[in-house]
Amino acid sequence: MPAGLPRKFYNLRVKMKALVVCISIHHGNTEKIAASIANALGAELLKPKEVDSIQEYDLIGFGSGIYYWRHHRTLLSLVDKLPDSKNKKAFIFSTSGIIVKWLLHRSLKKRLLKKGFDIVGEFFCKGFDTNGPFKLIGGINKGKPDEGDIRRAGEFGRTLIKENYSCFKEKNQA
Ligand SMILES: Cc1cc2nc3c(=O)[nH]c(=O)nc-3n(C[C@H](O)[C@H](O)[C@H](O)COP(=O)(O)O)c2cc1C
Repeated sequence: MPAGLPRKFYNLRVKMKALVVCISIHHGNTEKIAASIANALGAELLKPKEVDSIQEYDLIGFGSGIYYWRHHRTLLSLVDKLPDSKNKKAFIFSTSGIIVKWLLHRSLKKRLLKKGFDIVGEFFCKGFDTNGPFKLIGGINKGKPDEGDIRRAGEFGRTLIKENYSCFKEKNQA
């Protein structure tokens, strides 16, 4: 049983089906965060192009690096192609050179809400960035995400289970 997760939530984790969709093209920064969240949730981890159907999942996470103030285009277009997903639970995560919370998730969030998703959490993290002029100075945020960020990502995943416990329990009892 993973540390810090009470047995009742662990049992639930086994029943709840979660998917984490991530694309990480710059330095693999977001991949590290995605793997930690997926591990905490006991979730499958796929790239946008590998997703066929989301029908079977109770909770789906969508994340990537931030490229020109939005998530990767393949993630945005995956969401555009999804069927209406009224009341399905989703969360958003990203890594970026600079964190501007009101801006970075805006485009993806708008698309998810349009499809009817219930957004239950968001996770932001700095990532090593050598884009454009930052390359000239050897990049910014060296070493990010670090161990602390990866641990925080795992805690975020466990919190998602705890906060949505009653909803998943109802579904499992139905
Ligand atoms: C083409 C490109 C554009 C980027 N645009 C932004 C941006 O608009 N804002 C920002 O804060 N970081 C920006 N970044 C930095 C990345 O978001 C950051 O390095 C992120 O951690 C990359 O994640 P990844 O390694 O998972 O791809 C950009 C990086 C690249 C390569």
